[in-house]
Amino acid sequence: MNFELTEEQIAVRDAARDFAQNVLKPGVIERDNEQRFPKEEMKQLAELGFMGMMTDPKYGGSGMDTVSYVLAMEEISKIDASASVCMSVNNSLVCWGLETFGTEAQKEKYLKPLASGEKIGAFCLSEPEAGSDATSQRTTAIDKGDHYLLNGTKNWITNGGTASIYLVIAQTDAEAGHRGINCLIVERGMDGFIVGAKEDKLGIRGSDTHTLMFQDVKVPKENRVGEDGFGFKFAMKTLSGGRIGIAAQALGIASGAYELAKAYSKERVTFGKPIHEHQAIAFKLADMATEIEAARLLCIKAAQLKDRGKNYGTASSMAKLFASKVAMDTTVEAVQVHGGYGFVKEYHVERLMRDAKITQIYEGTSEIQKIVISRAVLKD
Ligand code: CAA
Repeated sequence: MNFELTEEQIAVRDAARDFAQNVLKPGVIERDNEQRFPKEEMKQLAELGFMGMMTDPKYGGSGMDTVSYVLAMEEISKIDASASVCMSVNNSLVCWGLETFGTEAQKEKYLKPLASGEKIGAFCLSEPEAGSDATSQRTTAIDKGDHYLLNGTKNWITNGGTASIYLVIAQTDAEAGHRGINCLIVERGMDGFIVGAKEDKLGIRGSDTHTLMFQDVKVPKENRVGEDGFGFKFAMKTLSGGRIGIAAQALGIASGAYELAKAYSKERVTFGKPIHEHQAIAFKLADMATEIEAARLLCIKAAQLKDRGKNYGTASSMAKLFASKVAMDTTVEAVQVHGGYGFVKEYHVERLMRDAKITQIYEGTSEIQKIVISRAVLKD
């Protein structure tokens, strides 16, 4: 593997860093307090080309590689994980899924506004009783000839209240198990589509997470993505790439907390010297730096495999499993380094600690990543 970054990749990373510092940081504490979605900030992020980073420019995207996406996700997540999850879902789940498996007509109508950031997308798989066990879909999409009749409820949907275009996974033929599941493109405003309650969350409080209800929504047949019965595999393939984005988000949360802890350790004086001169603190920083570097290498490896057209499913699960643990461990330690200051909002690390937890839950819990990894390593 080559871990040297190209000039282009460095430029993307630096642009993301500047944007995070100058645009996202000033209001991030207030947005977290008020559970306010960074609407204006996401528009500016779209202007940078970050909402369809890997999408072909002919469909409104920026045509960048996955490594650049990882670098941008890390920088944005250091400051605002609520903005980065919106960016990640739009890029890796919605745009990538439509570009890879959609028809030309779907790409023209839906991918273009999503990749340019004119519209925001959502990926709707989880249900009240189908989170990890994704084959147990209760939402139904009954084949009515020229359309599907969609009924059911989706839970914890990122961008649920702000999206205009939704990829909804639903069961068409229960007898056929996972081969009877479809993915349908649903537009906001379709009759019978209701955006339900917004969740009051522990972390990523600026992100817009909702329950969605579908009551006899008529979805035209041409809005099905892929062949009849491809929906479960569509979700699995899409999530394999999505996990690289969430791994990079976890990496960013960890490195953001580490940078704050390091800076604080040089300012704060106890027992006559800056606290980083106490081995108890220096060793914490050494552990953080090492684990973050290892997480970064796993993220870059998974991204490079994807860019080279190789199989990246196991690598993306490894990156997510490891980086999300590093995010949790590092943020807890960063609060500890800050002492009492770490427990108050002004110092940012308590928010990063709250934000870290979701990276071990969404796009497959850590236990799901272990299922994926153990199946792969035990195969040979
Ligand atoms: N790529 C392609 N195909 C895949 C695949 C992959 N990554 N994973 C599984 N498949 C295929 C299998 O080959 C199999 O096909 P065949 O029968 O034709 O061989 C089929 O899919 C069924 O696979 P499994 O038997 O392995 O299915 P399973 O029921 O054992 O489940 C699982 C596997 C890995 C546990 C899966 O259910 C899973 O990943 N669950 C977690 C779901 C998840 O990540 N949810 C997150 C919600 S989205 C979200 O969080 C977004 C957000 O808001 C940020």
